[in-house]
Amino acid sequence: MLRISAFRLLGRTGASRLSLLEDFSLRHYSSDPLGVRDDTRDARAYFTTPIFYVNAAPHIGHLYSALLADALCRHHRLRVPSAATTRFSTGTDEHGLKIQQAAAAAGLAPSELCDRVSAQFQQLFREADISSTDFIRTTEARHRMAVQHFWGVLKARGLLYKGLYEGWYCASDECFLPEAKVTRQPGPSGDLCPVSLESGHPVSWTKEENYIFRLSQFREPLQRWLRGDPQAITPEPFHHAVLQWLEEELPDLSVSRRSSHLHWGIPVPGDDSQTIYVWLDALVNYLTVIGYPNAEFKSWWPTTSHIIGKDILKFHAIYWPALLLGAGMSPPHRIYVHSHWTVCGQKMSKSLGNVVDPRTCLDRYTVDGFRYFLLRQGVPNWDCDYYGEKVVKLLDSELAFALGGLLNRCTANRINPSGTYPAFCTTCFPSEPGLVGPSGRAQAEDYALVSAVATLPKQVADHYDNFQIYKALEAVSSCVRQTNGFVQRHAPWKLNWESPVDAPWLGTVLHVALECLRVFGTLLQPVTPSLADKLLSRLGVSATERGLGELHFLPRFYGHPCPFEGRRLGPETGVLFPRLDQSRAWLVKTHKT
Ligand code: MSP
Repeated sequence: MLRISAFRLLGRTGASRLSLLEDFSLRHYSSDPLGVRDDTRDARAYFTTPIFYVNAAPHIGHLYSALLADALCRHHRLRVPSAATTRFSTGTDEHGLKIQQAAAAAGLAPSELCDRVSAQFQQLFREADISSTDFIRTTEARHRMAVQHFWGVLKARGLLYKGLYEGWYCASDECFLPEAKVTRQPGPSGDLCPVSLESGHPVSWTKEENYIFRLSQFREPLQRWLRGDPQAITPEPFHHAVLQWLEEELPDLSVSRRSSHLHWGIPVPGDDSQTIYVWLDALVNYLTVIGYPNAEFKSWWPTTSHIIGKDILKFHAIYWPALLLGAGMSPPHRIYVHSHWTVCGQKMSKSLGNVVDPRTCLDRYTVDGFRYFLLRQGVPNWDCDYYGEKVVKLLDSELAFALGGLLNRCTANRINPSGTYPAFCTTCFPSEPGLVGPSGRAQAEDYALVSAVATLPKQVADHYDNFQIYKALEAVSSCVRQTNGFVQRHAPWKLNWESPVDAPWLGTVLHVALECLRVFGTLLQPVTPSLADKLLSRLGVSATERGLGELHFLPRFYGHPCPFEGRRLGPETGVLFPRLDQSRAWLVKTHKT
């Protein structure tokens, strides 16, 4: 038996270390570890959210994690429309000491608490239009089987050994902490109590015999992986942070608990006296969903993108890739990391009583409105602050006035009495500013608008690839402003359909504005699916014309036929987005958050 003391390994048994390290050649893993061709990888994509703890009801931070993943996944579907090429999983993390203790405190059996809170997450995600293809619960039999199989593989590869673990454990964060990460704070009785420096949650001293994973062997393979794939962890500062962590020794990791202490979990195969560490259990959910250990998982695994909050980076960027390498698999393809929401400048917490209920927000600001707010204002690199007035201001100015107003201006009966997509006149708006003849009306700013909207889909795609969804929305919003400027400049309401001089230009102004709106509607689908549907339906864009492959902005300008010219607009179904400052002002006053 070995003795391991808070992240310091004092001894080691068994397993040929050299042969394992040979196995961990990353060239081998990253090229085509599972026999999947790169073209399959490009078309397929598997997105995951973290699985959510069920100790308490969901809050807006949880919804934000899920929304980011949803927007990435929906954007991928716009690029590659076949449903069979995309998977998107979310779910609940139901085992471990944290849940066991929360259930005891609530006077419930752990399974009752899990059923109750898991149902709340499922309902929230349904209401928020999260388009997941799988919801996993770690208490399901399929998951228990996957975890136990994964454990067996690590064991067979000589990566688990038994040792005495002694150190601090934080049940709230479900993690071990070295002494340097622990501080003392006055507890409820005034005595100094040990707490985690990072989270402020209480820690307790643990000393027991556990199974230990040879994490220390993976420091160099992890460094090679990250140095060889600079986009593995995005945005870059998080990639850099992980490489910094890896500059230090990587201690072995305790991966089980005494069952007498932790009974709410998956037993170690062949040793009922031990329960598998909840993080190992939880991380394997990503494999369970794609059918692990059945062979089907192999075609999905190399396409995996994990979306996670910064607080769980170490688990996803160090423990998980090391466990995967240990089990003979490649690290995840991408790890996208986001920061946190605070509320009126403070961390959200039950004890501060400032937890924002996402369902109230969806109700108050509409589903699309709240989705838009979180994704437009949430910056992955930094924490963002939430307060209600900010939501109203943003939605009123960008969705109700700018976008809704633009649609209204181009489709209202008094300006567009025929209710169609008017024709584009190439002599009024020739393809090059130098060709503007006597009947030409287009000005330099109009060419700037066309060029901005033409490059918008690519810009947006690049921002999605860099996990900067707020920048994608900023770019769309800036083009909406530019288009409003275009309409304002040419004031179609002052032009006359009856005049042979005005009519072609009036039609052209409306045609260009409708084409811009078609691009905005298409690009907004991942963020505001219902609003985008309403917008595209009003423009008469059919369901098969809404992908990025079919977008082709302003084809007549580029000398191609336009399938929309002359087409009837869709039916008028009311305002695109309601103004909140009028309709809901009283709510904002009574609910500051
Ligand atoms: N159960 C683990 C994850 C296991 S994944 C194999 C867990 N659960 S959690 O419920 O605590 O957090 C789930 C997600 O919500 C994480 O990505 C976390 O960063 C995110 N958020 C929790 N609070 C948050 C904010 N205040 N703001 C934004 N996201 C936050 O960790």
